[in-house]
Amino acid sequence: MSEPRRQILVTSALPYANGPIHIGHLVEYIQTDIWVRFQRLLGHHCRYVCADDAHGTPIMLKARSEGIEPEALIARVSQEHQADFAGFHIGFDHYHSTHSDENRRLATLIYQRLRDAGHIARRTIRQAYDPVAEMFLPDRFIKGSCPRCGAEEQYGDSCEQCGATYSPTDLKNPVSAISGATPVERDSEHLFFRLGDFEAMLRDWTRAGHLQREIANKLDEWFRAGLNDWDISRDAPYFGFEIPDAPGKYFYVWLDAPIGYMASFDALCQKEPALDFDSWWGPGSGAELYHFIGKDIAYFHTLFWPAMLKGAGFRQPSAVFCHGFLTVNGQKMSKSRGTFIKARTWLDHLDPEYLRYYFAAKLGAGVDDIDLNLDDFIARVNSDLVGKFVNIASRCAGFIEKRFEGRLSERLAEPQLYADFVAAGERIATLYEGREYAQAMREIMQLADRANQYIDERKPWAAIKEADRLGEVHEVCTVGLNLFRVLNTWLKPVLPELGARAERFLNAGSADWQALATPLTGHSVGRWEPLLTRVEPKAVEALLADAKESLAPTGTPAPAQPAIAPIAETITIDDFAKVDLRVARIARAEAVEGADKLLRLTLDLGGEQRTVFAGIKSAYDPADLEGRLTVMVANLAPRKMKFGLSEGMVLAAGPGGKELFILSPDSGAQPGMRIK
Ligand code: MSP
Ligand code: ZN
Repeated sequence: MSEPRRQILVTSALPYANGPIHIGHLVEYIQTDIWVRFQRLLGHHCRYVCADDAHGTPIMLKARSEGIEPEALIARVSQEHQADFAGFHIGFDHYHSTHSDENRRLATLIYQRLRDAGHIARRTIRQAYDPVAEMFLPDRFIKGSCPRCGAEEQYGDSCEQCGATYSPTDLKNPVSAISGATPVERDSEHLFFRLGDFEAMLRDWTRAGHLQREIANKLDEWFRAGLNDWDISRDAPYFGFEIPDAPGKYFYVWLDAPIGYMASFDALCQKEPALDFDSWWGPGSGAELYHFIGKDIAYFHTLFWPAMLKGAGFRQPSAVFCHGFLTVNGQKMSKSRGTFIKARTWLDHLDPEYLRYYFAAKLGAGVDDIDLNLDDFIARVNSDLVGKFVNIASRCAGFIEKRFEGRLSERLAEPQLYADFVAAGERIATLYEGREYAQAMREIMQLADRANQYIDERKPWAAIKEADRLGEVHEVCTVGLNLFRVLNTWLKPVLPELGARAERFLNAGSADWQALATPLTGHSVGRWEPLLTRVEPKAVEALLADAKESLAPTGTPAPAQPAIAPIAETITIDDFAKVDLRVARIARAEAVEGADKLLRLTLDLGGEQRTVFAGIKSAYDPADLEGRLTVMVANLAPRKMKFGLSEGMVLAAGPGGKELFILSPDSGAQPGMRIK
């Protein structure tokens, strides 16, 4: 482990400045922070920067709805975000904003370099425009009826009912979600980044080990689909940076967002003049650069971003690390279920390190989603941290304090056991480096089991009663505390506060990987205080109750939508009789590669099987659907969709998104029964 000292710059994605940090976000910031702390523990020069992502239409509109300037909104949210991150011990070196001088300068510089090298095109496009609000409408601010199935209240990009994708101009009866006005079409000149100019470079970069396998495969799909020009401009009114040679036009939020990584580092360089911006970001930089992000924003970070850097003469990222999404009790976080838990609400009820540990115990290097199951959470934290890890110290500390005046024995009995523990550090370091935290936690807990087993075998609590065995107790407890110290050092990236409390007790300063080579002997430890209390199930209940309550409206412009859609035109009984509704059993439910909203359902109609694509992914975890009975339209003409043939339709109620409810028949119904 005597590698040369690496220079490593690490980033997490920049959270949007229009909402609070929630525990889904925290998967990322905790994952990154653990990695950064680990690198520092090994002695590397590792820097960690982040910022608020402060631009764009939603932020502009949110400020408007609060009757304040966007600057005031983003200043307030930045304070809240930073307080939340500090609460979870996320140790940024610097936290900046994309709405900053540094970012304006760098975004302008990068744009100008791209333009001068011929990578920017201009052309006029036609878009939906709100004549009342006097602004162009982003797709998600237009609602209307699906051009294919007629479902109402659909967003401008795709239908949650039938999965059709289209452009907002295809919507029937479109309305602006901002003013309720009917949008008109209007032309405007836009600026485009010619991503296709970088295809060869991107193809090489993708295959050169900078990406996880799953993401590299995804990129191959994107290459096959073709790299389109990317629209990087937006018309006023917009909250962002005005484009220098295009008055009234602004950089699209996603253009200057990743540049925010550089801007934050630039601001850090101003705080610390010894840091030299160019030696970290310049083309020949010897530093490493890693971006931790969620899989939803891979496209921006693995195509646009490396291409922009290349085109503007900066270095490329060493790697982009994608993680999956957080589910709670097996389902997407949901406001109505009370599982949309804000960081602040967690901090009001539970120790942040419980969550850090639980995420670590779940996280691997892949892009799989991770689940916070609250029963499992309580059991896991209590069993591993309290029952195994802290227990080692609490079983030994009392004897050392009361019977040996707080002093460890002069020699370390069991040098081999200690050496085995220290030797495991190499493998644990490899696991941390590879972001295989779950495996690292398993191995650390196996060693904790071994340490407890050793104490069980030597029974200091029995030996202490025999005067001639005092020396033995002294040795056993000294070994126990030394093993505890080794494990504590390895857990510090995950549990920095618990680690610091343990080190105050051990009274030997802050240990790094190297320090473990020398065990503590003939050394006075501090006073013992319980290091960690158990998770109380009552506190978790209170958290969930609070999460449900604290969901005050966020102030995002709520589209003017009636709670209940108007009742449709009257039909006759004969019209209705044409619809063949059947009870169906969901034999299989699976996500559809490349479709955000669809699940592929295999429905059993009591002998016959049908494949149906249903736009219910936002509301259901496929695993929860399997085996359920539901209701389907069985005689709907089969429809060829992008992902395959859909042979019918399942029925669901609700406005969409997470608020979708599929129907179920009463108990006793059998697959295949006709509904009359
Ligand atoms: N502002 C953009 C990122 C710009 S980076 C140049 C953004 N912001 S975000 O607030 O929506 O998300 C910030 C990060 O949190 C993203 O990496 C996103 O994937 C992650 N997560 C947000 N919700 C999440 C879960 N429920 N689970 C895990 N990660 C999640 O995207
Ligand atoms: Zn539709």
